[in-house]
Amino acid sequence: MTVTIVGSQLGDEGKGALVDRWGGDADIVVRYQGGDNAGHTVVEGGEEYKLSLVPSGAVRGKIGVLGNGCVVNPRTLFDEIDSLHEQGLNPDVRVAERAHVILPYHRVLDGIEETAKADSDRKVGTTGRGIGPTYEDKAGRRGVRIADLTDENRLRNRLEYVIPQKRAIVENLYDVALSELETPEAFDVEALVKEYAAYGDRITETGMAVACSQFLKRRHVQGDSILFEGAQGSMIDVDHGNYPYVTSSNPTAGAAVVGSGFGAAVSESGEVVGIIKAYLSRVGEGPLPTELDATSRERDLAESIRDDGGEFGTVTGRPRRIGWLDIPMLRHAANVNGFTGLVVNHVDVLAGLEQVKIAEAYELDGQRLETPPVTTEEWLACDPVLRSFEPWPAVNWREIAHEGYEALPAQTKSYLEYLESELEASVYAVGVGPDRTETIERVNPFNQHWSVSSL
Ligand code: IMP
Repeated sequence: MTVTIVGSQLGDEGKGALVDRWGGDADIVVRYQGGDNAGHTVVEGGEEYKLSLVPSGAVRGKIGVLGNGCVVNPRTLFDEIDSLHEQGLNPDVRVAERAHVILPYHRVLDGIEETAKADSDRKVGTTGRGIGPTYEDKAGRRGVRIADLTDENRLRNRLEYVIPQKRAIVENLYDVALSELETPEAFDVEALVKEYAAYGDRITETGMAVACSQFLKRRHVQGDSILFEGAQGSMIDVDHGNYPYVTSSNPTAGAAVVGSGFGAAVSESGEVVGIIKAYLSRVGEGPLPTELDATSRERDLAESIRDDGGEFGTVTGRPRRIGWLDIPMLRHAANVNGFTGLVVNHVDVLAGLEQVKIAEAYELDGQRLETPPVTTEEWLACDPVLRSFEPWPAVNWREIAHEGYEALPAQTKSYLEYLESELEASVYAVGVGPDRTETIERVNPFNQHWSVSSL
């Protein structure tokens, strides 16, 4: 049985808490795309675990796999593993031999390109982790893979080909002298070989590299349940999102198959759960038609939601932009991913507000749109068609979490029912606080499958 968990919006929907919760029913948790641009915070018994690369299921003692679709920064990977050790955990993390490696020059190039784009208003607002440049090299057939780190000569060979190209880009295209860089060693073959071959040694010694497809197939045949953990969100998917304000991978559910080597037909028999935040947040540039920024009253409201919801980037610390829930965006995500269930997080953050709104559609040049337009320019020109909901009061959410779904305020339930009817999927769980105990579960997708198959 497989369950795939996907962000339905722009990232930061609170996926980590669910992956952690349902990861408890899985044997293996697999990340299939992205790298250390993700930020998951898992809270367990008051202890906070901040993860950007290690699959969050590792906090629950599960096997965490970074699939071939991921881009892996070994510095981050080993830093995270070491700090989890310091926090008393012993995570079992495997990494696909075919996953691509983020090297220091990818980060430098990410920064240089963003700075250059800023002059022409084309900045994406990346996390600066080198994600885009690494996927470019993967598609350009000049990348370095995990398997290359474990053989020093192979690694040197790859770098000797690619480094002169990267140097030329920095010096000739961007007109930046390497000596002016903070980290000129990022473009030095021997310095890179020394550091990254040592990571290769650690990977070999710990036996953490896997042939991902075979590994998952073997474990699945043995009866293991697998949870696929999507990072980022559907609307920043490079194919289905708000291009070019996207990340360079596919956070949407289909990528679970390609980014892990798990058979499409096998995973199709599983569940795909879309994680939704009860409002919207966006890090970086790009359209946000429901953004609360038009009046000082709206800006105050956004600030209070930002503070209550802790809406500051886990990776970069940047304050996130805030908006009302956007149904056109969610309709598109439901369509692309084929959600079988939904989770709605952060309903507690909206409690006690004077008003709660949702964009039920957009208006563009006098026409009503049910899903977002394809171009950023058109999307920027969209006005939200807002629908008001009766606000719900601030209540004791811990108590409600304990009592279950029926104890939610009636207004909150109406809000959730509206989402179910628009997205044609049931709400499996509702997040009313950051701790694992503050998620109200109606359906566990792993059990859901069993009850269906036993009919
Ligand atoms: P990159 O993934 O660092 O290349 O950034 C590309 C875009 O995706 C930028 O707008 C980032 O802010 C956004 N992004 C990347 N990772 C996340 C995430 O985990 N949550 C929310 N936005 C993200």
